[in-house]
Amino acid sequence: MQFNWLFYSDTNAQADLLEEALQKRDQALKRVVYLERLFDYLKTESNAAVIIRAHTVYNAYQLCSELSVKYPQLYIVLIIPDNMENARKAMQAGASNTLRFSHDKDEVRDIIIHAEKYMNHRKQLEEITEMDPSLLDQKVISICSTKGGAGRTSFTVNLALALSGEGQRVAVLDGDVQFGDAAMYLDLRPRKTIYEWIKEGENRTELDIDSFMTKHDSGVSVMPAPSRPEFFEMVTADDIQLVIQEMKKIYQIILIDNSAAISEVQLQCLNESDEILLLTDGTLPCVRNTKLYADTLDSMELKEKVRLIHNRSRKKDGMDPKKIEELTGLNIYVSLPDQQQLVERSIEEGRPYVMDNPKKPLSKQVQGMARKLLTGSDEVHKKNSKKLFSKAK
Ligand SMILES: Nc1ncnc2c1ncn2[C@@H]1O[C@H](COP(=O)(O)OP(=O)(O)OP(=O)(O)O)[C@@H](O)[C@H]1O
Ligand SMILES: [Mg+2]
Repeated sequence: MQFNWLFYSDTNAQADLLEEALQKRDQALKRVVYLERLFDYLKTESNAAVIIRAHTVYNAYQLCSELSVKYPQLYIVLIIPDNMENARKAMQAGASNTLRFSHDKDEVRDIIIHAEKYMNHRKQLEEITEMDPSLLDQKVISICSTKGGAGRTSFTVNLALALSGEGQRVAVLDGDVQFGDAAMYLDLRPRKTIYEWIKEGENRTELDIDSFMTKHDSGVSVMPAPSRPEFFEMVTADDIQLVIQEMKKIYQIILIDNSAAISEVQLQCLNESDEILLLTDGTLPCVRNTKLYADTLDSMELKEKVRLIHNRSRKKDGMDPKKIEELTGLNIYVSLPDQQQLVERSIEEGRPYVMDNPKKPLSKQVQGMARKLLTGSDEVHKKNSKKLFSKAK
């Protein structure tokens, strides 16, 4: 990365060693003699390091103090006489580093490396904090099924971790507002829930929604369901719309663990979603209901968003995937193998299987599915590489 290296000296001081060392690293040193010019440069150039050796017009420490206050991001190196007293003064003046008058090549090289590391790091931080989630291709994804116990919650939390492992900022919204237990599946004990956020009333959008969510070690955040089932009546479709809107300000992906029962809240979740992952377990009643559900979504013009997930698929005695596709009228997007022991242990311990058992076939499928959702293809991509969503559906 190219940085702006400025050398300020109000005397005729040379900077040969610095110039030489920077040249070796394909960087150039800009010499500045007039203070006004230095300030002009700093006004326009970000990512700059300034090396100061001032004598006459301006006291170096005073200049350093002024610059460090005015440009807190600036990397400042003071060239000072060789004694500790001056080093201390330099630090007090806000210098990032010092170079002795009698510096040699090695010292110069070390200073440059240190400055580059600092500037690189700062640039990365800037990129992260400047990233406006609304400018990114975000996704709200609902996970649903027509019957309880189809595997929605365990799948949701594992998919959340897999997506987070791909470098995405992920949140889980527990859409099962009466009996939701997504937080429990991650062994989290929430202090606040969607209920506390709703209770804030009119002012809630001015509050930091993140402070109502609970964070898992993986980085995944959860907006938990109310702590008591009877509080569910407090949660309206409008609240759901608003909570999703607020979460979108922070997160790239919002996974909604829906309830099996169709309600206004659930319909709102589906309406707000870009994709609907519909789980079926391959038993005849469930497959039949899935068909009915798909038809209902069709009548609501939501069918385009639906992707069928065949959970608990079994090679030997399960329903033939082709039959499932035929009966539901949907193509299977991903099949998740039946691994009961693994899933049950993971739920019991509150430790997602993709985290503790990443090599198991089920974990691999969920990880592959995360990549597929991000890229639109089955290709395996390098971990933590920056990904943008494919628009292709
Ligand atoms: N891939 C799988 N392989 C084997 N068993 C599974 C799988 N997925 C889910 N299960 C079983 O289904 C049970 C229910 O899973 P989970 O709680 O995730 O479902 P749910 O749809 O969220 O249920 P609820 O309707 O109670 O919210 C698990 O305890 C596990 O026994
Ligand atoms: Mg559940």
